[in-house]
Amino acid sequence: MRRVLNHKLGQFVILLLLAFLLFQFGIPWLSSAITGTAAPIPAHLLWTIYMPLVVLALLLFISANEQWWSEFKQPLLNLIVEQTPSGLVRLRRVLLVAVPLIAGGVAYLLIRPDISAPPELRSIHPAPPSSVSVGAETIDLRTAVNPYRGADGAPETGALAEGRAVYGQNCVICHGDSLEGDGLFATSFRPRPADFTDFGTIAQLQESYLFWRIATGGPGLPADGKGWNSAMPVWDETLSADEIWKVILYLYDATDQLPRAVGE
Ligand code: HEC
Repeated sequence: MRRVLNHKLGQFVILLLLAFLLFQFGIPWLSSAITGTAAPIPAHLLWTIYMPLVVLALLLFISANEQWWSEFKQPLLNLIVEQTPSGLVRLRRVLLVAVPLIAGGVAYLLIRPDISAPPELRSIHPAPPSSVSVGAETIDLRTAVNPYRGADGAPETGALAEGRAVYGQNCVICHGDSLEGDGLFATSFRPRPADFTDFGTIAQLQESYLFWRIATGGPGLPADGKGWNSAMPVWDETLSADEIWKVILYLYDATDQLPRAVGE
């Protein structure tokens, strides 16, 4: 042990180890002692900046002194050029096999595609904002009702037909002919386009909620709703508020469902 401690290569390895322990455990511990929250150093910073800098500083320090430098590199040179059969030669053979294997293994682990679902849970129906703007109109989502429904909730026939056309032109490629979320592009997206015939979607929602989702799409979801990337487009620049209300009529009518009433 004493020999290792007195040797420049031994000191180099020990200092590297100490620096690693300091970055990995010492600094998070210190930060939690001072501020109350542990602040670990991100792994990529540690391995691409901090540790390489420590290596560089140590090499500079050792190589500043000719004698230290030759002491430092001697064991490494021996390992490479030693000819007489000995422990060193055996170690060299082991390293010749082990280093490429480890490097290959690490490279494989880094590029191996990960097909498992992301661990975070997506809140499917996050709380909507209080209003949204479409064109020049600002719609108060807390009180908005579909202007194309009569007092008894029945849709206006003309508006329904127009909603059907809006759906056919804009939504069918993802949400499908049968509104089951099985359009031509459906399988390309994760999460899949909503299946409107499922009881878990529009039947549970108020029309104003749908209005918000259609106007602002995936990008309009709050942070807790994003989770997985939603492909639902933003429509507030392509469709007018009237067209959005009409397509909503069609979604309920075609699936034989009723929206959740305001205040329910
Ligand atoms: C590019 C594919 C795509 C197109 C086109 C598309 N959607 Fe979507 N839509 C999605 C995806 C994916 C989701 C599920 C993720 C989410 O809720 O954002 C979704 C979700 C929704 C929801 C939310 C349902 C719920 O339960 O919260 C509504 C409402 C909706 N879409 C309506 C429409 C309407 C109306 C159109 C046409 C104007 C349309 N979508 C066009 C992909 C699409």
